[in-house]
Amino acid sequence: MTILVTGSAGFIGSNFVLDWFAGHDEPVVSLDKLTYAGNRANLGSLDGDERHTFVHGDIGDSPLVAGLLKQHQPRAVLNFAAESHVDRSILGPEDFIQTNVVGTFHLLEAVRAYWCTLDTPHKVEFRFLHVSTDEVYGSLAPDAPAFTENNPYQPNSPYSASKAASDHLVRAYHHTYGLPVLTTNCSNNYGPYHFPEKLIPLVIRNALAGEALPIYGDGQQIRDWLYVKDHCSAIRRVLEAGNVGETYNVGGWNEKANLEVVHHICDTLDQEAPRSDGHSYREQINFVKDRPGHDRRYAIDATRLERELGWKPAETFETGIAKTVRWYLDNQGWVENVVSGAYREWLSRQYS
Ligand code: NAD
Ligand code: DAU
Repeated sequence: MTILVTGSAGFIGSNFVLDWFAGHDEPVVSLDKLTYAGNRANLGSLDGDERHTFVHGDIGDSPLVAGLLKQHQPRAVLNFAAESHVDRSILGPEDFIQTNVVGTFHLLEAVRAYWCTLDTPHKVEFRFLHVSTDEVYGSLAPDAPAFTENNPYQPNSPYSASKAASDHLVRAYHHTYGLPVLTTNCSNNYGPYHFPEKLIPLVIRNALAGEALPIYGDGQQIRDWLYVKDHCSAIRRVLEAGNVGETYNVGGWNEKANLEVVHHICDTLDQEAPRSDGHSYREQINFVKDRPGHDRRYAIDATRLERELGWKPAETFETGIAKTVRWYLDNQGWVENVVSGAYREWLSRQYS
């Protein structure tokens, strides 16, 4: 038995693969294009581990993917590969269409061709698990109930539109061809190996570097936050017991305004790594121009996952942030390694 994991060198994919081996010996074939967001070093602790095979490549490379499927005969394919940063999708949507839409299409085609070659028992057992986002549902009014799996899709950014398109393709491959698919729609993750272009790791990095902490608009936009290892446990549970063709919302029941999140990080850092001048990191907060089309509120109702599959997050926001801040304090070398020249260019373009 083997699983194929795409996007395995990114934030969630690498956490997933590392956590997988903490609980399983089942081999993993990793496929990652190593874009700016992919970091081979995230999986460095698995070098020399026979259970893990890393392949550098694109989910849209049909001959490569077909060859991997034929060679390794996985019982499941988990698709984490994507362009994932909303601000980058606003400045340049093309890569998002290419990987999230066209790439997912080519991956589905290769998987369908492979699945058709399996005998009946293996066909029945096979799963294609697509990792998606709550952003496909659009933005919520302040008093509206949280997103359930029945909410209509109303994506508002090029990123969320590209993810919505991929979700629709996955659904269509089940409905039309019978491919045994599962889709998860998760809220905002945070935790180890999070690329410091996203709010939480950016704030931790900038705070420690003595730089400004940029808050878009009034900072009252609301997100639901989930510790990444809880997302990984939800995906394992859905893979194990999810109903084929079903979608599952994954969330942390942690709705917070961005400013509250940043205050919480500053207060944690004030305790764990106080500034040499004795002032609070809150003084570094800087309100900047808002994100165009910025969704005001996301909230996830993860009741189905709890009721049908018995999944619940293990971390609260407070325990998850404490672990995350500690990880970044202990791994400042990792941050400096990913903060390449290209990343610095991005920062000056985005926040100038
Ligand atoms: P990430 O940007 O950190 O990692 C994406 C990974 O995919 C990188 O390693 C990159 O090299 C790889 N990749 C990109 N294009 C590829 C291609 N064409 N072929 C192969 N590999 C490619 O993203 P993440 O935050 O780890 O997100 C993983 C998945 O989870 C994405 O599908 C994202 O939409 C979804 N998601 C993310 C969050 C979140 O808060 N980060 C929440 C919900 C859902
Ligand atoms: O909801 C799930 C999504 O969460 C995932 O699908 C995406 O891949 C992931 O990137 C994340 O999207 P967001 O846009 O919500 O995450 P980000 O960390 O970029 O921003 C979180 C909030 O913080 C958002 O309201 C914008 C705001 N923000 C972000 C940055 C980078 C700021 O105020 N300042 C910033 O500098």
